[in-house]
Amino acid sequence: MYVYASSLLIALSQTATPLFAEENTSEPPLKVVEETSLERGKELFTNICSHCHNISYEYSTIGASGLQGVLERHDETWINTWLTSPEALAKTDVAAQNLAESNPFGLTMPTLPAMQDENNRRAVIEYLKTLK
Ligand code: HEC
Repeated sequence: MYVYASSLLIALSQTATPLFAEENTSEPPLKVVEETSLERGKELFTNICSHCHNISYEYSTIGASGLQGVLERHDETWINTWLTSPEALAKTDVAAQNLAESNPFGLTMPTLPAMQDENNRRAVIEYLKTLK
């Protein structure tokens, strides 16, 4: 369905005379916005998170948990706070503290500059939701 919506948008943008002139085309349909955010999330994950995390249930070689099904272990709000600063959350949240202490090599997740941007966090979380 997403592919269909974006193809339609591309088709519309390439048509000199808009097919649906009465529609406000400056605001793309919601589904297309979601897809863009999902793609951005995937890109962020590939560029940043995948250095340490697998897209499976398997722990990575540095002992970071695989992020498949992570939304079943934590809710969105928790992940959003964690991504903003794992270190800060570990000071107030027992689950975060336990995670930070569980790494077999004593590694902890760093506070990431890209995750200081709320839209980036939201995009990554959208992507994490697809890892079921
Ligand atoms: C430098 C390595 C590193 C990077 C990069 C990294 N993480 Fe982590 N992450 C960890 C480690 C290690 C843990 C385990 C907890 C700890 O030790 O702090 C963790 C834990 C997590 C958890 C909790 C997992 C669970 O099973 O409870 C989530 C969610 C998470 N990371 C998401 C992300 C996302 C999303 C990104 C990219 C934006 C990311 N991490 C980037 C190392 C990293």
